[in-house]
Amino acid sequence: MISFAANLCRLELSCFHGGRRSIATVISGNITSKLVRERLRKEVEEMSFSGFRPGLVVLQVGDRDDSNLYISTKLKVAAQIGIEAKHVRLPTTATQEEVLQHITLVNQNPSVHGLIVQLPLDSVNSINTELVTNAVSPEKDVDGISCENAGKLSRGDLADCFLPCTPNGCMELIRQTGVSVAGKHAVVIGRSKIVGAPMHDLLLWNHATVTTCHSKTRDLPEQVAKAEILVVGAGRADMVRGEWVKEGAIVIDCGINHVPDETKPSGKRVVGDVHYASAYQRAGFITPVPGGVGPMTVAMLMENTVKSARRFLQRELSRR
Ligand code: GUN
Repeated sequence: MISFAANLCRLELSCFHGGRRSIATVISGNITSKLVRERLRKEVEEMSFSGFRPGLVVLQVGDRDDSNLYISTKLKVAAQIGIEAKHVRLPTTATQEEVLQHITLVNQNPSVHGLIVQLPLDSVNSINTELVTNAVSPEKDVDGISCENAGKLSRGDLADCFLPCTPNGCMELIRQTGVSVAGKHAVVIGRSKIVGAPMHDLLLWNHATVTTCHSKTRDLPEQVAKAEILVVGAGRADMVRGEWVKEGAIVIDCGINHVPDETKPSGKRVVGDVHYASAYQRAGFITPVPGGVGPMTVAMLMENTVKSARRFLQRELSRR
């Protein structure tokens, strides 16, 4: 765990809320992820005897702009840490069989310790995402989304699996607050395989009482109002209003949404799933977007890759 004092920016708001002067504490993913990356860089340096380097492959199908951007960030961060990262891009015309063949090749390559299939798949053919993500060897599944890793997480075998990067990054940000998760009422919005469902499991096995909300949840504001810890991965810009948030809650926003903004040269800006300005006035701690969960997701991918490389080295040593 990282020292939490370093990455909390205490910002006093100039307004009054509900008769009290509100103070929001911003949990910076930029600062926390930098600490993680620096630690990993040192670890990689220590393990790089006789030219050894952790290896990561990012397999992409198609050419989505958002995926291209995420992948270029992953490659850049990997290079800074000393991870040998390779981007394999298959055309949108790739078939399921071709994708599976590439995964098999990487599974068999001993110099690759981590493999992620960038989602969503952008193919003109029908490809079963579940089949593809499950084809990744669990030993190299640094995304932590194969059935084997997800199953271990859901049963509480946290030390024996790769934890999915976004939820693991959220947990690290929650740790930064210094608030204990055990016994808290946590609410997760969203039940995707990559964010919501594993977030539920991680909070549960860190001993929170967890409610997971989704599109069929009847009274979302009522659920949110009960949350001492709120994690939102809904994929809808500004969906959670500040008025719903419990005073003093920890608010973790996994959303990355582009909304029109004529004041920006690009004509758009990035916002989260939480309406930041209003939630800021009620939350005890809040993550910004951008600069919150996003950089932590990348840092946790690197952490899993280094962990996998270390396990590989240990297996090699024990064979000798
Ligand atoms: N697409 C957006 N986020 C992710 C992620 O964390 N992993 C993968 N594989 N694809 C993504």
